Amino acid sequence: MTYRMTFRGAEVPAQPGQSVGAALVAAGILDWRTTRKHGRPRGLFCGIGVCFDCLITIDGARAERACLIPSADGMRLGDALETAGTLQERLARAGAALLAETLPSIEAGTAVEVPQAEEGVTYARKIRPKEARIDWRKPAEVVDRQIRGLSPFPGAWCEAPSERGPVRVKALLSRAEDGEGEPGLILDDALLIACGEGAVRLLRAQREGRGAQEAAEFLRGFPLGAGQRLA
Ligand code: FES
Repeated sequence: MTYRMTFRGAEVPAQPGQSVGAALVAAGILDWRTTRKHGRPRGLFCGIGVCFDCLITIDGARAERACLIPSADGMRLGDALETAGTLQERLARAGAALLAETLPSIEAGTAVEVPQAEEGVTYARKIRPKEARIDWRKPAEVVDRQIRGLSPFPGAWCEAPSERGPVRVKALLSRAEDGEGEPGLILDDALLIACGEGAVRLLRAQREGRGAQEAAEFLRGFPLGAGQRLA
């Protein structure tokens, strides 16, 4: 039997008896958190519960040492950072279970119809392309919500500098953090970007014409560092 876990919305298989850390590494995920001060990537190091490098959020609860925790089916690993994509997946699962539970009662004529509440309802209009462009002058909480709310589709985007001119980059996962600087300025070498107030750390990104990548992998192919600026 293979367990199915998720790491920031992506599926991670695990074998019974395998630790969370071992399953992540086997899935090619080598780091899952960054140090507070310098934003350096961290994952398994000692492998025996001594160094605490491997801390990871499990099922939204406080951080645990990934090298010590056995994998389990359905575990949600990583920061409890919801995106439109992870929310859609959760709702689809909940909806499927509810449907399976409700259909027999509809068939039997015993289902009770309850009108939807009208209070708190808002009209969700179509998202216009210009709304997906990131405005780094906005507060970090707003930018962070825009990024996660539009991920994976259509994807909030910005322009990053390159030798051949600006390149469009989609930000697919982020976290609001402390930080100060000119909006759009990259504050460290792990994609901490200054906003109007605070900063946002990009955790997953996608370059034009490429697939989505975790931040460390993205930076290996498209180096961006402190002092450069996103527009
Ligand atoms: S890898 Fe060192 S405590 Fe887990």
